[in-house]
Amino acid sequence: MKYLAVTFHPEKIAIQTIEHGEITSEAKFPLDKTSLTTELSQITETVRLSAAGIAGGILSGEFNAQTHENTYIDANGKAYDLAKLFSEITNKPFLHEKEAAQYGSLSEAFAAKAEAITWNLDYVGYEPGKEEYSIESLLTIGNGFLGLRGTSPEMEQTSGTYPATYIAGLYNQAESVVADTKVVNEDFVNNASAGFLGVKIASGEVLTFENVTVMDFTRKLDLQTGLFQSRAIVEDAEGRQLEWKAEKVANMAKMNEYAIRYTVRPLNFSAPLTVITTLDGTVENSNVERYRSLNSHHYDVVDLGAEGNTAFIHTKTAQSQIEVLQKTIFSTETTNAIQAGKVVQATNFEAALGESYTFEKRVEVYADHQQNPIDIKALKTETMSVRSFADIFAESSQAWQTLWEKADIKVEGDMMSQKLLRLHTYHLLVSSTPFSSANLDVSITARGLHGEAYRGHIFWDEIFILPFYIYHFPETAKQLLLYRYNRLAAAKESAARENYDGAMFPWQSGHDGTEQTQLLHLNPMNGEWGDDYSRLQRHVSLAIAYNVWLYDVNTDDQAFMENYGIEMLLEIAEFWKSTAVFNESTQRYDIPKVMGPDEFHEAYPDSKEGGLTNNAYTNMMVVWLFEEVADLRERFDSETLAKIRAKVGLTEADLEDYEKIKHQLQLEINDEGIIAQYEGYFDLKEIDWDAYKEKYGNIYRMDRILKAEGKSADDYKVSKQADTLMTFYNLDKQHIDEIIRDLDYQLPDDYLEKNLEYYLQRTSHGSTLSRIVHAELAEMVGQHALSWKFYQEALYSDYNDIQGGTTAEGIHTGVMAATLHVTLATYAGVDIRKQQLSIQPRLPEDWTKIAFQLVRRGVNYQFEITAETIAVTASTASDISVRGKTYQLPAGEQITIAY
Ligand code: BGC
Repeated sequence: MKYLAVTFHPEKIAIQTIEHGEITSEAKFPLDKTSLTTELSQITETVRLSAAGIAGGILSGEFNAQTHENTYIDANGKAYDLAKLFSEITNKPFLHEKEAAQYGSLSEAFAAKAEAITWNLDYVGYEPGKEEYSIESLLTIGNGFLGLRGTSPEMEQTSGTYPATYIAGLYNQAESVVADTKVVNEDFVNNASAGFLGVKIASGEVLTFENVTVMDFTRKLDLQTGLFQSRAIVEDAEGRQLEWKAEKVANMAKMNEYAIRYTVRPLNFSAPLTVITTLDGTVENSNVERYRSLNSHHYDVVDLGAEGNTAFIHTKTAQSQIEVLQKTIFSTETTNAIQAGKVVQATNFEAALGESYTFEKRVEVYADHQQNPIDIKALKTETMSVRSFADIFAESSQAWQTLWEKADIKVEGDMMSQKLLRLHTYHLLVSSTPFSSANLDVSITARGLHGEAYRGHIFWDEIFILPFYIYHFPETAKQLLLYRYNRLAAAKESAARENYDGAMFPWQSGHDGTEQTQLLHLNPMNGEWGDDYSRLQRHVSLAIAYNVWLYDVNTDDQAFMENYGIEMLLEIAEFWKSTAVFNESTQRYDIPKVMGPDEFHEAYPDSKEGGLTNNAYTNMMVVWLFEEVADLRERFDSETLAKIRAKVGLTEADLEDYEKIKHQLQLEINDEGIIAQYEGYFDLKEIDWDAYKEKYGNIYRMDRILKAEGKSADDYKVSKQADTLMTFYNLDKQHIDEIIRDLDYQLPDDYLEKNLEYYLQRTSHGSTLSRIVHAELAEMVGQHALSWKFYQEALYSDYNDIQGGTTAEGIHTGVMAATLHVTLATYAGVDIRKQQLSIQPRLPEDWTKIAFQLVRRGVNYQFEITAETIAVTASTASDISVRGKTYQLPAGEQITIAY
């Protein structure tokens, strides 16, 4: 076996390569104890360069860390989790020799560490601010109803740390004055907090992260069980040191419950201690810096109180009038005080040096917008039962286990991809799960239950998100689609208001399905407000239709289709029909006044109005929709269809119009076969990408850079994300070939390659959604290395906060779900868009195996794919197409197919 040994001696650091017990190479660096920062890049680079063929790495030497072997703390107090750092850059497990000594052999130690790395998120150190905020987003726990950011209980809402309690669907509108104009924003409300715990020594002040010196701080999130753990060693102004330990769990099995276990230990003193815990109704929204100047008061306290060790707070959102009740029970008797908007509970005890004192707090959270009505009055007076943290944790872990059994994608040969795939699966399940979805009329927000960016709104991102639920939890996919169905009336009103027919879903959807996109948008680079036309992204309705269709193909849920799905498809089709305008001069239909997914292009140069004509993605997806509507005739009986058509008001003439439009929509295509993003796109100016890269470094928000220079992205061929190319993410290439042929256009055979190259040269990837789409497309045209690069960037996008601060405001559910989808659809090659399940794997080089399961039309399929074979077990006799050839799968028997 080959591995690296990284040893810290008093004066130097040695990095040795060890092969079969022999040192085969060695590098040494002087160790400057004051700060490791200078040597670190050299050390990391050496580790990286020496990593070829290693099984892992062993760290040894005095690390100075009081609590954990793997962390080196320099004399400045900066903590370096070297094991984590080296593991990430080499994609192999690194651990300290003390940790390795627990195992029988090195290979056992490496295997155990690798497994632990893929299931845990570990953070060491405390750097308040943006970075801390983003760690908190990544350490969020939740259960689809509740989202609790990954703060430890002694943290308060400051610019450095941001604890928050989010409840799915808890929206409120508030008015603010911006540049002398009244604007109304609908926000995702950060509700009252029951999560605070702090300690008082004798009669001193309450110690929090704000008034102590944090000497050591670690946090861990166990993705498998949803357990959050933190441990801090702190010192107050008088030199008294304490250890604070906390564990938190949001009960996955009972969405209304979460629990905290809290331990405090005096490390160098004995004194009377008081543990303080609050139920705080003064909390407001302030996660997103640029929204802080807006009105952030969203709820009022209706009532609050405490009795014995219990307390409650009853709040009501100011405009949406949603009532929330939070009830708590503490594990020891407390003395209670009511302050403005807050319940403060305290428990006193004599603390002895070195002794640990543990407390538990159980919280119940109810909101009256749950599907099943709740009686807040009755709940308020109901006695809270005593349930231990251990019991809640056991119950919740059990629920998590059932989720992992269905959703875990196991990758062999690539530890970090495995970890990030689990991270993404975890956060989607925090955002919505089968355990809570049936009780809720919500969908998945762009930033999960993790932060306040995009105000918790629901976008077309669902098109990236739904496949995850369709593969593994179709019942949740259905609930998410019902969120849209329940807002169909609002979508119809929106269409009518703008003189369209059918249903026009909002670009940003929240509480009631009305459009929540702002009319103005602030450019943070120059502080100026400008028109925001992003609501013209009418393609959101196509995403909803696509999701209904994909759900239908995979579930055959006739009842859903008959009661909701078909109606949605027809209403959306009606909308698109009414947007199409016949153009006498071209003898084709145009769709004007829309925007494609690329948000950098909102209007024509110098136009005073927003909107573009013939966005290729939109037009091609409209053709697709009209085809699917026509196909409904083959799948549903005429009586059922007639009933739904009558409800929608659809006539034969409408269906004939669909037929006409579907063959005559306009696309602009140049001589090389490039499909213009929209009509007139080719007339835009090119940009000097190299010059901008050199000047600004990070140019992913080219729109803002250009605006700050007094220019507009509307004038340039510069895209935020895949637009024309997005069509190829949704539909298979053959299908698009047909659409283009049906529209009577001819394209060269390699038009996809050409379009990919053309648009990639003009895309800044200003949305995290961009890279993952390009990962799929690059693989489609056989550009494996490019695909892998984009895929890896997408996998790391939140973990490394590659946009430099956006993760602080919540995770990106769209990209997270899309990485899981691309893993299955592109690399494992499973195509769930066809009537017959088909598979054509293209495993990345390093992956020796991928294993996962999915459910389709009630049949559970378990796959294990290597570079040569597909082993598949179906729960019920069925068939599968492998590289175009059909194989019969007997029930419950594993079949291995070479491909
Ligand atoms: C992207 C949109 C996306 C939105 C919410 C924007 O940055 O351009 O495509 O829907 O974020 O995630």
